[in-house]
Amino acid sequence: MVCRFFPSHDAYVNSALIADYMLPQTLPPPPHTASLRAALRSATHAAHVRLNQHALLAGLTRRGYPLDQYRSVLRAYFQFYRLVENAIGAAITQINPGFDYSERRKLGWLEADLAHFQINPLADPDHTPAALRNLRIDTPGKLIGVLYVIEGSTLGGQVIARHLAENLNLTATTGARFFTAYGALIEPRWQAFLDWAESVQAAGEVHPEACAQATTLFQLLEELLDVHAHPID
Ligand code: HEM
Repeated sequence: MVCRFFPSHDAYVNSALIADYMLPQTLPPPPHTASLRAALRSATHAAHVRLNQHALLAGLTRRGYPLDQYRSVLRAYFQFYRLVENAIGAAITQINPGFDYSERRKLGWLEADLAHFQINPLADPDHTPAALRNLRIDTPGKLIGVLYVIEGSTLGGQVIARHLAENLNLTATTGARFFTAYGALIEPRWQAFLDWAESVQAAGEVHPEACAQATTLFQLLEELLDVHAHPID
C-alpha cells in the first residue's frame, strides 16, 4: 500500500496492515523539515496506538467482534462527536479560519447507525469527561489539532468499514454509515484538510498548540471509551 500524501508513512501503514492494524510501538522521528502533518502524527502516535488497543475498539477489524460492542462504540462516539462538532462549529464562527466543515459533519451518520439498531442515544446517561464538555477551540492552532484527529480518523475508518462489512455484514445503509465516512472522497478531503492546515501554518507557527490539542482530544476519547467499556449504569 502506498500513501500518496506522505511517502515515509508507507512503513507505518504497511506494518499496521500486517499486524492486524495494530500500529507499531515506535516511529522514526519526523524529518528535520517536518511538515505540520508529520509533527501531528508523531506527537499523537502513542495515543493512537493506545486507542487501537482499547478494549472497545481492538477487535473492530477482527472476525468475531461482538455486535454489542460495536453498539457501545456508536453510543460513545455519539457523545464525543456531539460535543466536538459543536465546538468546531463555534470555533469556525468565531475564528473564521477559511475552512468549510459543514459538508464534513459526522453526527448525522452516527444518528443513522444508532437508529438502525433502534438505539436512542439521548436516553443514555451522559458520561462525557468535563474537559470534553468544556472544550473551547479559540485559536487556529487548536482547531487544526481537533480537525486532525476528526478528519484523520476517516482514514482508519475506511479500513474498519471493510471489516464491518465482511465480519458483521454492516454497510453504509445498515449500521456502518459513520465508518464509511466520505467513501471515495476520503483521500481528497484529507488532502484538502492538510492543504488548509499547511496554509494556516505558513501564516504563523501553530505546531505546538495543534499537537497539544490533538493529543488531548485522543486522550479524552480514550477516557470516554473507558466509561462505555465499563458502564456505571
Ligand atoms: C481500531 C481502531 C482504529 C484503527 C484500526 C485505526 C487505523 C488507522 C490506520 C490504518 C491509519 C492509516 C491510514 C492511512 O494512512 O491510509 C489511521 C490513521 C489515523 N487515525 Fe486511526 N485507527 C483507529 C482508531 C482511530 C481513532 C478512534 C481516531 C481518532 C478519533 C483515529 C485517528 C487517526 C488519525 C488522526 C490518523 C491519521 C494519522 C496520520 O497523520 O497519518 N484512529 N488509523
